[in-house]
Amino acid sequence: MARILVTGGTGYIGSHTTVELMQQGYDVVIIDNLSNSTSDVLDGIEAIVGTRPAFEQVDCNDAQAVADVFTKYTDIQGVIHFAASKAVGESVEQPLMYYRNNLMSLVTLLEQMKAHNVHNIVFSSSCTVYGQPAEEHLPVDETAPIQVALSPYGNTKQINEEIIRDEAHANTQLHATILRYFNPIGAHPSAMIGELPNGVPQNLLPFVTQTAIGLRPELKVFGDDYNTPDGSCIRDYIYVVDLAKAHVKAVERMLNHQAKEQVEVFNLGTGRGLSVLEILNTFMQVTGVKVPYQIVGRREGDIEQVWAKPDKANNVLGWKADTPIEDVLLSAWRWEQKIRS
Ligand code: WQD
Repeated sequence: MARILVTGGTGYIGSHTTVELMQQGYDVVIIDNLSNSTSDVLDGIEAIVGTRPAFEQVDCNDAQAVADVFTKYTDIQGVIHFAASKAVGESVEQPLMYYRNNLMSLVTLLEQMKAHNVHNIVFSSSCTVYGQPAEEHLPVDETAPIQVALSPYGNTKQINEEIIRDEAHANTQLHATILRYFNPIGAHPSAMIGELPNGVPQNLLPFVTQTAIGLRPELKVFGDDYNTPDGSCIRDYIYVVDLAKAHVKAVERMLNHQAKEQVEVFNLGTGRGLSVLEILNTFMQVTGVKVPYQIVGRREGDIEQVWAKPDKANNVLGWKADTPIEDVLLSAWRWEQKIRS
């Protein structure tokens, strides 16, 4: 069976994707510099799958180390590139670190893929490339205009996509699938892997679960004066396991030479927008846990509302994110309880 190289595979989405790949019979080698994750995640993957993925502690910016991985694992037929810095706020404070890390790691990876005759890459992108879509572009599909990025993090995703397109134009052997994620949430149903935010969570759901378990005194809801039904921001919250499954579909499509273009782009969302307050209230309903919260001012850089039109991924990849939000929120709660037990 083919082997897939998963960069950033001990991270949140990378670990869930590794599980789905292995359960579909793929061999996996993870490279990760463990700057934002720990190798304990490998134990969780092994507990779910029954076998441990190969792992090399490697920084994607280290060309020789990446080359050595391709030399050691000669059966690599595709790459899924997750490894990147991904905190929006941090990117505003440290733009140069973000540009160096997120851009040069992709360049290094593409150079080493070419040098070792590996021609398939799945790239982890983000709906942030759309910024705040205009009303006529909601729900947002892949033809919606790319807008000026609101953060260096979002800009690195846009530039990464351009790097991939330019390389594909120059190197006709390269096939790339760009997956634009909406808001990944939840944890594997086994509660053996999940989201492990470093320090104070920036994202909504880990903050909700940490408040629910008593680690945080209250959740701050950043604004209820938006032009939305209940005034709070709307996002497309997608179950991380559904998201992981889309990566397997993308790999299969390229390995089976089914891709219609050298570079294909897919929006990965549920197609349903939910507000912060809807998420919060649904969480309290399904868990029976009261989450203290306070409405405060808006967070700088937040967009008002975005959710996906996932028809292309549904029809072309034969994939659908259909896990009920209630189950997704419960999975996040079970994970929080597990890691605090
Ligand atoms: C969601 C909503 C907040 C925390 C970002 C990145 C995106 C991806 C996911 C990496 C917003 C509100 C949040 C809190 C709150 N990251 N919120 N209180 O900003 O949509 O997307 O994370 O790949 O690329 O841009 O996600 O979870 O931070 O916020 O009210 O304590 O929850 O204002 O409306 P976001 P988020």
